[in-house]
Amino acid sequence: MERIRALLKAHVERAYAPYSGFPVAALVEAEGEVFLGVNVENAAYPLSQCAERNAVAAMVLAGKRRIARVHIYSPKGPISPCGGCRQVLMEFGGPGVEVVLHGPEGYETWTLGDLLPRAFGPEDL
Ligand code: THU
Repeated sequence: MERIRALLKAHVERAYAPYSGFPVAALVEAEGEVFLGVNVENAAYPLSQCAERNAVAAMVLAGKRRIARVHIYSPKGPISPCGGCRQVLMEFGGPGVEVVLHGPEGYETWTLGDLLPRAFGPEDL
């Protein structure tokens, strides 16, 4: 866990968050590998992309699709993923995905099923 926390703290510096001033880093553990993402904002605000979704995109590009655990880091203290990111994470791991919310001083662990109960998913189609 200390290695993951060090990766998150190092990479959050690369977030592009000039509008919100709220940098976020995410790390997805999937099929024995890790994938990082940071939030990338845009002058056209709705085009901003969350850290979690950028980490998921890196994972998919690498050919992995099964998330075991996701870590989210904010220098301002632990934050919970937004609703849209919960849905995207659910797509690639289901309710058993561990969601670790990190701040500078520590972390707390949830499951995706706790954060997004009774989710809509591929099995509903
Ligand atoms: N943000 C994330 O990247 N992940 C989250 O879980 C919550 C919010 C970003 C979006 C935006 O760039 C900034 O944080 C403020 O909302």
